[in-house]
Amino acid sequence: MTGGHDSAKGKLEAQGVTLRYDARTIAENLSVVIPDGSFTVIVGPNACGKSTLLRALSRLLVPSAGQVILDGKAIAGYPSKQVARTVGLLPQTSIAPDGITVADLVSRGRYPHQSFFRQWSQEDEVAVASAMAATQTTELSNRPVDELSGGQRQRVWVAMVLAQQTPILLLDEPTTFLDIAHQIELLNLCQDLNAAGRTIVAVLHDLNHACRYATNIIAMKDGTVIAEGPPAAIMTEKLVEDVFGLRCMIIEDPVSGTPLIVPKSGK
Ligand SMILES: Nc1ncnc2c1ncn2[C@@H]1O[C@H](COP(=O)(O)OP(=O)(O)OP(=O)(O)O)[C@@H](O)[C@H]1O
Ligand SMILES: [Mg+2]
Repeated sequence: MTGGHDSAKGKLEAQGVTLRYDARTIAENLSVVIPDGSFTVIVGPNACGKSTLLRALSRLLVPSAGQVILDGKAIAGYPSKQVARTVGLLPQTSIAPDGITVADLVSRGRYPHQSFFRQWSQEDEVAVASAMAATQTTELSNRPVDELSGGQRQRVWVAMVLAQQTPILLLDEPTTFLDIAHQIELLNLCQDLNAAGRTIVAVLHDLNHACRYATNIIAMKDGTVIAEGPPAAIMTEKLVEDVFGLRCMIIEDPVSGTPLIVPKSGK
């Protein structure tokens, strides 16, 4: 998968981490295990710390206490290219360099696989082409990224992280800006990647999508984990009320058989 490079296999966890921006503490003593090979979906209200947790799991943010463990070793101790060959992060928002084309941006996903001795190769070409095909961005190849629609741009960023070919993918709201068909397509793609052995961690706001696709849900509130486990085991009316302050009814999704959350009138 990573072309003979040393790369860890994909077990990721946060052990008692405290996550801060300067003086503002977002989470304290937070422990989260991403089950190996799972499709884990993180849900929770705005500002509860989901993106902050993904940043810590990808080593973009250094915990002020506790540690993130990748394959049994502190992630802080890995060479940065090895982390980048193992954990791919799609941030919630990204800004492309001015005037860069789609093909050039997606190609940047290959950077962790290159070195002075190993320049652009056929393998890189294939990884970029297949990431673009999977996200239906091939026909956008020569377009400047800053001239694309919001949904097209989102798919290009997804292509870039796919081109990285990491065993673990951390996707922060990957379906934002996408129309309903492209949302389902992207989630199906994640499911296929998961079936092929990748560990997927995605932040999603749509609880029904979360229940359909996740093998494991982590429900967060105020920097803490309120519940975690398979959707059918944890998604209850009480949990939705506790986490989101929303009264709802949970019925069976007529298509997938998974929990379907139907909000009750707010009054
Ligand atoms: N760079 C930053 N500097 C200071 N505070 C920040 C920074 N980034 C996020 N925060 C704060 O950290 C808290 C958690 O933010 P985070 O982005 O992790 O939330 P989230 O759960 O991803 O929310 P959303 O669903 O809106 O994306 C918020 O109160 C936010 O204002
Ligand atoms: Mg966020």
